[in-house]
Amino acid sequence: MKNRIYILSILSCITFNSCTTDSVSDLEDTQNEGAITYTTRVKAIIDNNCVRCHASVPVNGAPMSLTTYENVKDAVLNRNLIDRISRAEGSSGAMPLGGPRLTQNNIDAINEWANTNFPR
Ligand code: HEC
Repeated sequence: MKNRIYILSILSCITFNSCTTDSVSDLEDTQNEGAITYTTRVKAIIDNNCVRCHASVPVNGAPMSLTTYENVKDAVLNRNLIDRISRAEGSSGAMPLGGPRLTQNNIDAINEWANTNFPR
């Protein structure tokens, strides 16, 4: 009985290609779960590193707020946000002002968010 089930599952694997298809769909599921959205990833990075100056009423000379989805998207599109966070720590115009530079992982996340058309 055990042998039969084993042979059947091997046969179905070869016939329907079920073993490989299954593992590919598993991989795709994992990637979808990891999609970078404003709510799941970007907001926390900005809140922790930028909002002490770019508050809803900006302080310390910051020219705009970064407290909403629209604010952050607009700053990426019109105020070179990605360029500013990508500059070397301590170089002119680098954000967050006065450092420390964001982790490369967080910079990459914001970049990917922009490149995937700003999912909410
Ligand atoms: C200590 C205060 C402070 C912090 C923290 C800070 N900023 Fe700024 N930011 C400023 C000031 C002041 C300016 C205006 C001077 C300039 O353009 O360099 C500015 C300018 C900018 C600009 C350019 C705006 C324009 O109109 O050209 C962007 C984009 C920006 N900040 C993004 C960020 C991001 C993203 C973070 C967090 C990763 C951050 N900032 C953290 C103070 C800060």
